[in-house]
This record gives sequence, C-alpha cells and structure tokens, in this order.
Amino acid sequence: MLTIAVISGKGGTGKTTITASLGYILASEYKKKVCLIDADVGLSCLTRLFKVSYTLTLRDALKDPAIKLAHIMRPALSLQNLLIVPSGTALHDLVASNPKILVSKLLEVSQSGVDVTLIDAPAGISSVVIASMVASDKYMLVEELNPWGIDAALKLKSLAERLQKPSIGLVLNDVVGWKGTVRRAIRSIEEIVGIRVLGVVPNDKVVRKATMRLEVLAEKYPKSKATKAIREVAKKVAELVS
Ligand SMILES: Nc1ncnc2c1ncn2[C@@H]1O[C@H](COP(=O)(O)OP(=O)(O)OP(=O)(O)O)[C@@H](O)[C@H]1O
Ligand SMILES: [Mg+2]
Repeated sequence: MLTIAVISGKGGTGKTTITASLGYILASEYKKKVCLIDADVGLSCLTRLFKVSYTLTLRDALKDPAIKLAHIMRPALSLQNLLIVPSGTALHDLVASNPKILVSKLLEVSQSGVDVTLIDAPAGISSVVIASMVASDKYMLVEELNPWGIDAALKLKSLAERLQKPSIGLVLNDVVGWKGTVRRAIRSIEEIVGIRVLGVVPNDKVVRKATMRLEVLAEKYPKSKATKAIREVAKKVAELVS
C-alpha cells in the first residue's frame, strides 16, 4: 500500500486533473484498489468528476472521531474499485490549530485495504498540505514548465526534506514547446531541483473541455495526448505498488 500526496506551489497547475486520471487508470487498467482523497475544495472536485453521491465528508470525520475514514469512502459511479473521500468545505480552519487530527484521520486509510491512495492537496504550503505530506509515504509534484514552477518545486522539496518525505517525482503539466527544447529544460530542471521528472503532460485542449463538462479526462478521452502522458506516469506509480 502506497500513499502519495499530490502537491504544487501554485494553484491551477493540474493536480486535480492528474490525480483523477491517474486514479482512474490505476483502477481501470491496473486493477488496483485506489482511494482518492479530496483535501482541497476546487471547482472540479473529485466527487463531482466521479459522480459520487455522499452525505459524510472528511470535514465531518475530523469533527467526530467516531466517523472513520472507511465510513466516508464512496465508490466512483463507473468503477467500484475507485473510492473517493469527499472533503466537504475547506479544511483549513479545523486543521490550522490542530494538524494532527488530519494526519491521524488520513493514516486510517491503511486499514481500508486499498493499494494506492492519492491525496489531492491544496496549492501552496499550509497546515493541510503539511498534514497531507506527513500522512503520506511519498509526494508527487505537479508544476508548470516555467521559472515559477521550478521555484515552487524547490520550496516544496525543501519542506519535504524537513518532513523527511521522499518524492516519487515531478510531473510537468500543460507543457507547450518543441520536443528538443522541452527535453533540455527537463534535464536542467532535474539538475536544479534534484527530483526526477516522472512525466510531461502536454497542453491539450480536451483537458479544459473535460474539466468544463465535469468529465474524467482518462475516461472520456483515453486516446488524447494528455491521457497518454498520464498513462506513462500511472505505469511508474503501478511499479512502485506491485
Ligand atoms: N495539460 C493541460 N492542458 C490544458 N489544460 C489543462 C491541462 N491541465 C490542466 N488544465 C486546465 O487547467 C485548469 C486547472 O486544472 P486543475 O483544476 O486540475 O488544477 P489544480 O492544480 O487542481 O488547481 P487548484 O490548485 O485550484 O486545486 C483546468 O481548467 C484544467 O482543465
Ligand atoms: Mg485542485
């Protein structure tokens, strides 16, 4: 069993898009039992993407210790081995004063028999992000290919080092450019940041279309270039699990 915190320095880099499709591919193609934890409250939250109906949320479970994480996991409409933990509303107010409640709640995932857990964390550095990282075995960065993305990766790596968390790698998302230029950029990023680039997801117009329609990219557009790139990432994650 492996728990990965999906993090980024800046908002809107594609964490939710990639978490959803990565989880979908691991569940549908690799037949893993996958749990996706929504620790963020973005526009296209995971429950909406996977058409999950629920009443209890992570927020409820943080308020009431009797509500276990296993009680709030709901299967995706199209895949029974893909479980979603809804966030409820933002968690910062509950977690800021007591990050340990989120850490211990997230650690309950180890009792649920899942193979892989992905935590879709909020952007930046906050108590929710720190708790998500502490409760995970490893973290995955999702950044854009620009100086701000590199800067953010460096900051989060330094936080992770203080928390003694290893990285599974950096996913560069929404990438535009010539292959040769991108290849050279990847090499220098790996050198500067000191984290391997796990995947390069190109800018692809179907991604935004899927987001707007509340669809899971990999489910709706399995042959798109963005899905193909996420499939490469899934292969590497699956290797870490088996
Ligand atoms: N590879 C891509 N090509 C084109 N558009 C993309 C790509 N990846 C993400 N997007 C678009 O960028 C927007 C932000 O994506 P997403 O919500 O996944 O980011 P996020 O990191 O989860 O954001 P937040 O920090 O707010 O939680 C969405 O509209 C999505 O469709
Ligand atoms: Mg998000």
